[in-house]
Amino acid sequence: MKNDLRAMMASLTVPVIAAPMTGVSGPELVVAACRAGVIGSFPAHNASSHEELGQWLAQINEGRKRATDSGLTPAPVAVNLVMRAKERLAGDLEQVVKHGVPLVIASVGSPAGIIPAMHAAGVSVLADVASMRHVDKCIEAGADGLVLLTAGAGGNTGWVNPFAFVRAVRDIYDGPIVLAGGVSDGVALRAAITLGCDLAFMGTAFIATTESRAGLEYKQALIGANLDFVESRLGPEGLTACFLRDSHFSAGHSVSGVRRLASVEELVARLRHEWDSAGAR
Ligand SMILES: Cc1cc2nc3c(=O)[nH]c(=O)nc-3n(C[C@H](O)[C@H](O)[C@H](O)COP(=O)(O)O)c2cc1C
Repeated sequence: MKNDLRAMMASLTVPVIAAPMTGVSGPELVVAACRAGVIGSFPAHNASSHEELGQWLAQINEGRKRATDSGLTPAPVAVNLVMRAKERLAGDLEQVVKHGVPLVIASVGSPAGIIPAMHAAGVSVLADVASMRHVDKCIEAGADGLVLLTAGAGGNTGWVNPFAFVRAVRDIYDGPIVLAGGVSDGVALRAAITLGCDLAFMGTAFIATTESRAGLEYKQALIGANLDFVESRLGPEGLTACFLRDSHFSAGHSVSGVRRLASVEELVARLRHEWDSAGAR
């Protein structure tokens, strides 16, 4: 039986997935996210091979076990797989199943080819979507939840307004929805849940953490930027992506909320505080 995403969310500190980011998310960031009580994720391709992916997952499981032993309730881990990276897919999926990962995030292409095998192995699949056509296809393929890529999201971006997109999807779908793009604090997070989302992806905000694999220059560029610095252009994968102007540093509109370097624990504590204050209002 596959995992129930909504049950997985029950014990999170805030309804957030530390989003998968090429070159940025590794085991350190994932373990810190899980310890802090938000779902930790990374793209499988950040590990250079299936073998290294297996080592990373063992390291993450060990980190989560240490958290449990010290009395914490660590959040689940999710692995991002790029559907069109056919040469990696089978071997990466094998590692996901072997190491008991409960959740896969399928991006860049239809998840239809992996869903039956993932469900048979008890793994849930969240699918990235950027249009209503993608939404229809992923629901039909049996995805367990949808990640709505919206305008101004970091990395490979969407172009749809989040308010319109979430409401259009909620009209036809009552499964889990994750908002990707524009969420930089607990107030925006509350708004996303009010809008009809179950969770939000946060990418850009997690780049400027001590545990991310981004270099100091990249982190400082984010701290010095605001959303006027963000432009969308064709990225190295041939897809439209958001970057800081005149640089190869990817970031979303949410960069306006990045003001200082912090540990993941500090960032999540701030989100929780803002989330509580916004709820009280
Ligand atoms: C530097 C960077 C790299 C990213 N790499 C990936 C990736 O490998 N796979 C993926 O599915 N999404 C990737 N994304 C997109 C994020 O998972 C997420 O959708 C996005 O960061 C959400 O918008 P935000 O940055 O405004 O929070 C990347 C985003 C950034 C900023």
